[in-house]
Amino acid sequence: MVLYQLIYQSQSLVPFETPELEDLLAQARTYNLIHHITGILLYTPDGRFMQVLEGQKSVVRNLYYNHILLDPRHYNCRVLTDGPAILRSFSTWTMGFRAATALDLRTLLCTVPPDTQGPLEPRPHTRPELLELLQEFVESCETEPWLEHPRA
Ligand SMILES: Cc1cc2nc3c(=O)[nH]c(=O)nc-3n(C[C@H](O)[C@H](O)[C@H](O)COP(=O)(O)O)c2cc1C
Repeated sequence: MVLYQLIYQSQSLVPFETPELEDLLAQARTYNLIHHITGILLYTPDGRFMQVLEGQKSVVRNLYYNHILLDPRHYNCRVLTDGPAILRSFSTWTMGFRAATALDLRTLLCTVPPDTQGPLEPRPHTRPELLELLQEFVESCETEPWLEHPRA
C-alpha cells in the first residue's frame, strides 16, 4: 500500500463544545479504525480545525472529498499539503485530538513568528516539516483521557 497524507484546515459553522467534539471523534474513530486511517485533529476556541489524515490514498481522498468537505458542520476547507509518505506520523491514533489556541495554529502555519516584533523568518512549509512541528506540538500538550484513542 502506498501511504498518503492530507492536511487541511477549516472553520466550524457553530462553536464545538465537548459533546459535539466527542460525537465527531466517535464517528471519525469508528470509520477510521475500519478503514485504517490515522491522524490528529486540532480545534481552537475560535472554531478552527486542522486535521491530518493518513492511510491508503483512495480511502483518504474519498473520506476528505466525498464526506469531510461536504460536512455542513464546517466550511472554508482548504488543503494545506498532501502527498505520499513512507511512515505514518500519528500511527497510534485512529484520530487523536488536541485543543489548540489560535496562536498555536498561527505559530504552526504562519510564515512569520507570531511575535512580529522579532525578526521575520519564514516558517517551514514542506509536509515533513509541518508534520514534525505538529508532532512536537502534540507531545507538548496535556489532554483529557477521553480524547486519546489508541489504534487497535
Ligand atoms: C472537522 C471534521 C473532521 C472529521 N474527521 C473525520 C474523520 O477523520 N473520519 C470520518 O470518518 N469522519 C470525519 N468527519 C465526519 C465526516 O465529515 C462525515 O460526517 C462522515 O464521514 C459521514 O459522512 P456522510 O455524512 O457523508 O455519510 C469529520 C468531520 C469534521 C467536521
